[in-house]
Amino acid sequence: MKKFFINTYGCQMNVHESEKLAGILHQRGYVAALSNEDADVILLNTCCIRETAETRVLGNLGIIKKIKEKRPNVIVGICGCMPQKKGTAEMLKKRCPFIDIIFGTHNMYKLGEYLDEVENRGKKVLEIWDSEGEIQSAPVLRDGKVNAWVNIMYGCDNFCSYCIVPYVRGRERSRDFDEIVSEVRSLIEGGYKEVTLLGQNVNSYGGGSPQFSKLLRALSKFDGEYRIKFMTSHPKDLTLDVVEAMASSDKIANYIHLPVQAGSDRILKLMNRKYTSGEYLEKIKMIRSIIPDVGISSDLMVGFPTENEEDYLCSENLIKEVKYNNLYTFIYSRRSGTVADKMDGQIDIKTKTDRIERLIKLQFDIGNELAKSYVGKTFRVLCDTVKDGIGYGKSSCDKSISFVASQDRVGQFFDVKITQAKNNKLIGEIV
Ligand code: SAH
Ligand code: SF4
Ligand code: F3S
Repeated sequence: MKKFFINTYGCQMNVHESEKLAGILHQRGYVAALSNEDADVILLNTCCIRETAETRVLGNLGIIKKIKEKRPNVIVGICGCMPQKKGTAEMLKKRCPFIDIIFGTHNMYKLGEYLDEVENRGKKVLEIWDSEGEIQSAPVLRDGKVNAWVNIMYGCDNFCSYCIVPYVRGRERSRDFDEIVSEVRSLIEGGYKEVTLLGQNVNSYGGGSPQFSKLLRALSKFDGEYRIKFMTSHPKDLTLDVVEAMASSDKIANYIHLPVQAGSDRILKLMNRKYTSGEYLEKIKMIRSIIPDVGISSDLMVGFPTENEEDYLCSENLIKEVKYNNLYTFIYSRRSGTVADKMDGQIDIKTKTDRIERLIKLQFDIGNELAKSYVGKTFRVLCDTVKDGIGYGKSSCDKSISFVASQDRVGQFFDVKITQAKNNKLIGEIV
């Protein structure tokens, strides 16, 4: 039997898209390999959100080149956001002539046809589509049995000035309401316990409020215990009806990822985020007034063009005020083709590194303090893995918790009482 291995980079959207690529390969009779070394088809589903993401892909291509030299019959394909970025596909073709198939984000579902070209006609394929077509369905070979991803929309229309996503993922398109409901229903009936709805800006699903809250309510009507999560929410589009829908059912997780990106209003404006820090904090207040035990996480960037110490300190102040459950911190990375790339006042790497180190340290202390305050509390946990007698799972508000558990606990919900908080980690006991 022929085997495939997919190297996935980037966001959850990509993780799920790799499940679709796996579905196509599975339909063609391929089975999953354990590594690149024993695969007949090697795919790289790539990300270009920051330069480091691209460097990682190029590094891995160096290793794959050696595999191809040893086993010339291996088919190597690269797809996703990186080749979709202007000029990159040609660069890859020149720099890595051993790659057999290069395709972008809009034509992922064509993988089967491209494999035909290589397998049956001995041809190489380079096909990048300039724009998105209709939403296409693809078979999905899911990675897990507990958590599942479901796309509700594709693309992004926001054009935050630093971000490459609108250029590589095309315009915003929403999936049909009933199609999503029936996919989620069949996942829940099939035993999945957590479904995460995916979109770059889920709040603008179906053209905007109240479509997303209607969807959440429709997805909370199935039998049994399960959880619906979603990401990502753009703060400018988060409305009261969404928060009320979250509060209306135990089946919608008490968790929201609400990326702020910066604390300084001057920087937020340059970023084209379309809210001020004050407006953002108002939304946080609104969420907490309706769901007091909500978990909130965020993305924050340092070193955006012209960011000075004072701007940076606004970010520090904001995270001290909000006290996020989890904060994903990034160093601003120049992306060609974006508005911010052409801005004057690019920040040197030393300043950026210094700021990110301070930010990480601050969030670590905030996280530790929060973690300690949870000792003695009980959370409803969904166990997703058990390894060497230790179970790992998450609460509805997205806190990661570990506990002693037997293998049969995987995929179950139960109450866990927190007994210890160590270095931001919560340890508990099944009640
Ligand atoms: N649609 C989501 C974000 C997708 S990208 C949203 O709007 O929140 C994930 C995160 O990567 C962003 O939230 C941002 O913090 C970060 N990011 C995007 N472009 C970046 C860049 N050029 N440099 C550094 N970080 C970036
Ligand atoms: Fe990028 Fe902004 Fe769109 Fe998020 S909302 S994907 S940060 S352009
Ligand atoms: Fe990366 Fe593309 Fe996601 S650039 S973050 S994989 S949308």
